[in-house]
Amino acid sequence: MTNEKYFELNGGDQMPRIGFGTWQASDEVLEKSVSEALAAGYRHFDTARAYENEAALGRALSRWIGGEPAKRKELFVVTKLPPGGNRPDLVPEYFNNSIKDLGLDYVDLYLMHTPFAFVHVPGDLHPKNPDGSMKVDHSTDLIAVWKAILKLKDSGRVRHVGVSNVNEEQLRRLCAVEKPACLQIEVHALCQQNSMIATANDLGIPIVAYSPLGSKALADALSEKTGREYPDLLKLPIVQRIAETHSRTPAQVLLRYTLQRGLGAIPKSTNQTRIKQNISLWDFELTDREMMDLAALDRGENGRICDFSFFPGMEKHPEFPFKH
Ligand SMILES: NC(=O)c1ccc[n+]([C@@H]2O[C@H](COP(=O)([O-])OP(=O)(O)OC[C@H]3O[C@@H](n4cnc5c(N)ncnc54)[C@H](OP(=O)(O)O)[C@@H]3O)[C@@H](O)[C@H]2O)c1
Repeated sequence: MTNEKYFELNGGDQMPRIGFGTWQASDEVLEKSVSEALAAGYRHFDTARAYENEAALGRALSRWIGGEPAKRKELFVVTKLPPGGNRPDLVPEYFNNSIKDLGLDYVDLYLMHTPFAFVHVPGDLHPKNPDGSMKVDHSTDLIAVWKAILKLKDSGRVRHVGVSNVNEEQLRRLCAVEKPACLQIEVHALCQQNSMIATANDLGIPIVAYSPLGSKALADALSEKTGREYPDLLKLPIVQRIAETHSRTPAQVLLRYTLQRGLGAIPKSTNQTRIKQNISLWDFELTDREMMDLAALDRGENGRICDFSFFPGMEKHPEFPFKH
């Protein structure tokens, strides 16, 4: 798996293991960055209804596709059902809105973004109570939502379906209905997810690591709010030392580490040089010793950044996936 550039999905579809993350960029910046990413060789693009940028991504992709079906087939486009859509009857409506904004005939992978749910408020993807807490929908039936997502495949407008941000118990429960085609979770040097990865490997589910570089913008925002310190992964001495040894950047070392663990990754950048760097990962290899040194950075659950504490009240949802 170390040097395989794709995950092979059902039916022979290939999902590039390095994709392009799109969270937290303005529409204008994103459109430009996606065009640069396409030029750099990215073909896998990750978005979500909740990022409110599907239309901008869609415009950049459509320009590149130029109406040629063969070019559309080269792409692997991923979007996600938002927490406000986690009710079986709402799934088709949210999916239709996504595909319309993306301007595509089909998406390659549709993910359940979170196992927990917000109340569905038309026009508001992050509905809040007057006290600032989230409007939580406590009545979520995870299995019923998963069945509704699976049903989307019948339309031919989604090729594969999967999940994100679930825990191991939830993943097993979903697998009892049908195995997700892909699991997208936070994985990086400080949050290595060994147990979850072993479980998904046993189940034969490919994993895509989100926030593989430590999501600096999110870490900074949370740090400002809570005072908690988040180490900058790119500045960790061992990461810098390995980068120097290979004449690579710290980001390339972190991404190469993710690939050598058998995972995919979707780094986000809006800088042309870094966009190119983050996909130039196939011509060097970390040694066993370096892999061990990087493995030792794991802080387990304490290393998690995207713990959804930015959705106050969410932790009370019966399907909230993480310990708190
Ligand atoms: N399923 C989920 O719930 C979920 C949650 C979070 C993220 N995601 C997905 O995963 C993607 C990636 O995660 P993320 O955006 O949270 O964080 P990330 O990719 O770990 O980190 C992005 C940050 O790293 C910087 N960066 C990128 N390449 C770099 C390089 N080569 N050298 C130095 N700095 C670099 C970026 O700044 P510049 O732009 O200035 O380069 C940006 O500040 C998201 O965009 C999204 O698509 C999914």
